[in-house]
Amino acid sequence: MEKETILRCSAVTKNFKSEAGDGELKILQGVNLDVKQAEIAAIVGSSGSGKSTLLHILGGLDRPTSGDVFWHGESIYKHKPDRLAELRNQNVGFVFQFHHLLPEFTAIENVMMPALIKEVKFSEAENRAEELLERFGMKERLHHRPSQLSGGEQQRVSMARALTNHPSIILADEPTGNLDEKNTDTILSLLLQLREIENVAIVLITHEEEIAAKCDTRYTLQNGVLEGSETVL
Ligand SMILES: Nc1ncnc2c1ncn2[C@@H]1O[C@H](COP(=O)(O)OP(=O)(O)OP(=O)(O)O)[C@@H](O)[C@H]1O
Ligand SMILES: [Mg+2]
Repeated sequence: MEKETILRCSAVTKNFKSEAGDGELKILQGVNLDVKQAEIAAIVGSSGSGKSTLLHILGGLDRPTSGDVFWHGESIYKHKPDRLAELRNQNVGFVFQFHHLLPEFTAIENVMMPALIKEVKFSEAENRAEELLERFGMKERLHHRPSQLSGGEQQRVSMARALTNHPSIILADEPTGNLDEKNTDTILSLLLQLREIENVAIVLITHEEEIAAKCDTRYTLQNGVLEGSETVL
């Protein structure tokens, strides 16, 4: 059976005003991308090529100048900000280079947070968070605050948090950019397991070719467009 297209990006452009104020920086110039259920797509590209800008647009965090993004075939930017935020909380999980965990809360509380925002029952949110953290080898660290965790552990908590609400897509911006080789390997094998267990699609921004080579598809963001989609696996 043909797999569902979870995420579609169609002719997306993004311009920013230049510092001088008169001109415009044309960062994205017609990006097209299709990501199917449980696919892991890597995006590489030089610094400043627009990878983070694209990821924000794919995740409904920043409007494109033109073009559109679809989740499960539905155009997202036609929605009002409140509705878009609601859809985002249901469909998308984010993992950033720096974990963005809330420092005052424990690991399990951080992971529960997206579910509590969605008004899931407390006990249900707690069970889900515990299950995810256990899967990520964090069973003994449930009640540690971020400052009491190593960098790799913090990143595993933020991946667990991205999965709390059973998203269909994870958008990860250099999730291993800050980690050593061993932690990078751990995170990568967790990502690969995840799509099996959770059936989740992943868009992974990385500057590491070895990581990109392990993904299903690999794109390069260059001159404002995505090139190549040679299937690696
Ligand atoms: N809000 C903004 N206003 C103006 N220019 C911006 C804005 N956000 C990004 N840019 C510019 O757009 C370009 C792309 O930025 P972006 O952060 O997407 O790059 P990147 O590919 O993620 O780079 P890196 O690999 O260093 O993270 C940069 O030149 C940046 O200065
Ligand atoms: Mg970036």
